[in-house]
Amino acid sequence: MGFLLYTGSMINWTTFPRPIIALAPMADMTDLPFCLICKEYGAPLMFREMVSSEAIIRTNAKTLEMARFDERERPLIQQIFGSDPATMAEAARIIEEKFHPDGIDINMGCPVYNLVSNFNGASLMREPTRASAIIKAMRAAVQVPISVKTRLGWTKDTDILEFVHVIEDAGASLISIHGRTKEQGYSGKANWSRIGDAKKNTSLPVLVNGDIDSQSAAREALHQSGADGILIGRGALGNPWAFAELKYALAPTIYPAPIPPTFQERIQAAHKHAVLHVARYGEKGLVKLRKHLPYYFKKELAATYPYIDFKNLRHMLVNVTTLEDLETVLATLNHQLQ
Ligand SMILES: Cc1cc2nc3c(=O)[nH]c(=O)nc-3n(C[C@H](O)[C@H](O)[C@H](O)COP(=O)(O)O)c2cc1C
Repeated sequence: MGFLLYTGSMINWTTFPRPIIALAPMADMTDLPFCLICKEYGAPLMFREMVSSEAIIRTNAKTLEMARFDERERPLIQQIFGSDPATMAEAARIIEEKFHPDGIDINMGCPVYNLVSNFNGASLMREPTRASAIIKAMRAAVQVPISVKTRLGWTKDTDILEFVHVIEDAGASLISIHGRTKEQGYSGKANWSRIGDAKKNTSLPVLVNGDIDSQSAAREALHQSGADGILIGRGALGNPWAFAELKYALAPTIYPAPIPPTFQERIQAAHKHAVLHVARYGEKGLVKLRKHLPYYFKKELAATYPYIDFKNLRHMLVNVTTLEDLETVLATLNHQLQ
């Protein structure tokens, strides 16, 4: 084992400050520009969007580019998906060698048909032998810790109670659990107390995930699960301020009380995000950014700013094609505030 020779950065899940507060991996969303924005507003840890192990070992240029990151994003975990232990191990080795993330995460929770029909993502919960072989092969191939992100089960929300043993015995260092089954998809409510039952069955650190969209939800999710930290996905979209709020909610003696963003700050953050997109993807990056933009101006804000036509604003945001287009929309918005 070459642990002492490893010169890259590496996360230690046992000593990382508690409670752990991390941005959840989201395909097409948690890319370099968004992670940089979240980092700038105080996110302590990033899980990058999943990349395909098969595409990585084929050295697909687009996929490799997805795994590239900016040093300022650290600490950063790269997630990969796949079903073949040797392919997953080789993909992890390539990613470690080329990019040196602080850890590598395995997607064992994605319910999307394209993945589960190929024994990827959530279907690995039904294939414990394969899941275990993947973790072991990856562990042997890289120096950085391997973590797993999964759900409560396929159809039963008790599958996780056994599955955490499989994950721990195979040598993973952390488990993130979305409190729903594969069958549930995104329906119903995340069951944080079931995550607590799973936590009692393992000595590994656990991150609770699902529906954490406010300070009170974060406190309740940690309370019910007894987890070591939280993983926040949709609640961070268009809302990088969430991290300062959650840090304060969970550790008020360490972090200052956050000041809610003004509308001008929302405009500035959306613009900053756009500039980073253009720097990363060129002007065509604006089309990809359309997915993010409406989140900065959610309809809940209408109660505070009744003179802004949010429906029309969102319509304009999802139609921008250039940075100039966006700047025009944002300048008009700024004008309405004065
Ligand atoms: C647009 C989108 C993309 C996602 N992509 C991934 C992914 O690449 N890997 C993964 O493990 N989970 C993925 N997820 C699941 C999230 O990481 C998270 O488990 C889920 O959204 C529940 O957390 P939340 O309620 O905080 O959003 C994705 C979710 C969304 C909404």
